[in-house]
Amino acid sequence: MGMDVEKLLLEKACHVEEILKRNLPAGDGYADEVIEAMNYSLMAGGKRLRPVMMLEAFNLFSGGSVDEAVVEPFATAIEMIHTYSLVHDDLPAMDNDEYRRGRKTTHAVYGAGMATLAGDGLLNLAFETAIKGAATGKELAAYDGECANRYLESLGILGKKAGIRGMVGGQCADIMAENATDIPEDKMKDILHYIDENKTGALIECSLMIGAVLGGAGKREVELIEKAGSNVGIAFQIQDDILDIISTQEELGKPIGSDEKNGKSTYVSLYGMDNAKSKVKELSEEAEGILKDLGFENSFLSGLFEYLIYRKK
Ligand code: IPE
Ligand code: IPE
Ligand code: MG
Ligand code: MG
Ligand code: MG
Repeated sequence: MGMDVEKLLLEKACHVEEILKRNLPAGDGYADEVIEAMNYSLMAGGKRLRPVMMLEAFNLFSGGSVDEAVVEPFATAIEMIHTYSLVHDDLPAMDNDEYRRGRKTTHAVYGAGMATLAGDGLLNLAFETAIKGAATGKELAAYDGECANRYLESLGILGKKAGIRGMVGGQCADIMAENATDIPEDKMKDILHYIDENKTGALIECSLMIGAVLGGAGKREVELIEKAGSNVGIAFQIQDDILDIISTQEELGKPIGSDEKNGKSTYVSLYGMDNAKSKVKELSEEAEGILKDLGFENSFLSGLFEYLIYRKK
């Protein structure tokens, strides 16, 4: 494909940052410290992949027929939730990491208490933002899924995929499996699949699904994009685990060696580096195949899935 994915991704990430800036909370007195910590972590950079994926899915399904303002509050919400997950993931009580997105982690600057609250604040603000968007957004055609209202369906997806049936559930299993010596290898492989699918896959599925639902997709199409998101999400986490070993802090903007330090089982530790690399490729190509079935084979999204196989940060 003759598309410069890297350049386009940067442009689209800039567009996302403009949307985020419009939704930044302002200080108002005694809560200023936590608000500053929230803005510090949110505006620290980052690839903005999840909102970019949401906007792309939205535009693919809507074909330009639905105003982008419909999806923007949800794109803001997913990046706030993702950022909160990183702030908490870095806490001393979790991965205990000092660098994120090229600068000191939120707890290293503001303390663990304030970083915990900044995460809580981002999660709540995410829902406040998405609900406000839903309450004031343009009317949308009925959805053929569980909930005919596309905004309510999207809010339900956001809650579920960020929670115990998604990211929080995956992070739980991730902590429980730390330094596990008494788990048989087969069982550990099952657990690892659950971890990757949930701690990372769920928010990526969520992004694509909400973009699709708000863009006018039908239930069947949303199920397909969910599966594509799951594949890409698991591949994304395997690549994250690969980079934790072979990259550098300068390139990643976060420490390497975090997984070994914390006694994590990863795809690399259980299957080896070569198998990990081929799994990333296999899963991503499967996801591209699903996009092809949906008629989106020449899209930026498909190029992005391909690009992520070889990502270096
Ligand atoms: C990091 O996510 C955490 C994982 C799920 C592997 P990203 O690699 O998308 O982090 P940012 O948003 O670019 O900082
Ligand atoms: C974290 O996985 C995924 C989240 C839900 C935050 P990691 O712990 O491997 O993410 P990094 O490497 O710290 O970004
Ligand atoms: Mg972690
Ligand atoms: Mg971590
Ligand atoms: Mg990692």
